[in-house]
Amino acid sequence: MSEQALIWHNGDLKPWNEATVHVSAHALHYGSSVFEGERVYATPEGAKFFRLADHTRRLFASARVYSIDVGYTPAQIDAACRSVVRANNMPSAYVRPVVFRGAGGLGVLPTSNSVDVAILALPWGSYHGDARENGADVCVSSWNRPAPNTFPAWAKAGGNYLNSQLIAREAQRDGYAEGIALGTDGMLNEGAGENLFLVMDGVLVTPPTSAGVLVGITRDSVLKLAHALDIPVAERAVPREALYYADEVFMCGTAAEITPIRSVDRTAVGDGTVGPVTRALQDAFFGLFDGRTEDRWGWLTAVSDAPLPDQEHARQAGHGQTPQEAQSSTEIRA
Ligand SMILES: Cc1ncc(COP(=O)(O)O)c(C=O)c1O
Repeated sequence: MSEQALIWHNGDLKPWNEATVHVSAHALHYGSSVFEGERVYATPEGAKFFRLADHTRRLFASARVYSIDVGYTPAQIDAACRSVVRANNMPSAYVRPVVFRGAGGLGVLPTSNSVDVAILALPWGSYHGDARENGADVCVSSWNRPAPNTFPAWAKAGGNYLNSQLIAREAQRDGYAEGIALGTDGMLNEGAGENLFLVMDGVLVTPPTSAGVLVGITRDSVLKLAHALDIPVAERAVPREALYYADEVFMCGTAAEITPIRSVDRTAVGDGTVGPVTRALQDAFFGLFDGRTEDRWGWLTAVSDAPLPDQEHARQAGHGQTPQEAQSSTEIRA
């Protein structure tokens, strides 16, 4: 990443190399971070976040699960996300807010540790490369997702991604683009970093959120777009073999967007090409960003015209310079 890139860190916009943490950071030892992955798209009307408010809502919900006090309001986090994209002058971006337990003691239950917040913005194209067009070859992982009463899947917490790393690494080692995991009940769960959809007899089928999957924002968008396109939807438990029966399979997520799956365990999905329902949903989804699909849900938020956060709160929270001040100092620097 360019050393010129700016990172929002505890209220300041800092050069990439200066946004650092202490080795005693609790999150480093115990995985106690919650985060989001958000995309900013270059639309005909300029750079726009996709479902920013929903990502921020999930960030705060994840923090609540682990009793982490974010120290900022959702409106301040929204504004900070917008300010970091604006400060880096990016037409499109992948934005990563992360809230984590920072420096202090080494107790498993944090006592003196700070809560730190950082927001990075990176250039990021298609996560699965040309699979977005041609389909990805995936496998069912030998690893399961955690049981629902172990690590809460709805909370997007750093520690959960150790499991994702095992799934993705195994898949990569065996020559697949991605791994799909079953739950401990043996039913289909989700990919290492994506929710899953199947098309069976014209019905769009996906495991329910009660299966212990991340409540994906792209998943929700796909369900709403399907409704708008009159595609019937069923959220229900899906056995593994459905992957080999299905006419179409795709994965979705902020990074993966809508990526068709053309084979599972070296078995072609349908005729091995991208099917019509997947294509229609891709068209509707990507159409949101080039103006072909009307944003009737209010999902897009401009990066510019960001209301800047309340300065007093950031100071009270002990985080020093507000994004507004940081933004103006960046402008002076630039
Ligand atoms: C495990 C997992 N499932 C699903 C998703 C998709 O979620 P979203 O669409 O909110 O990005 C992600 C991506 O963050 C993920 O990491």
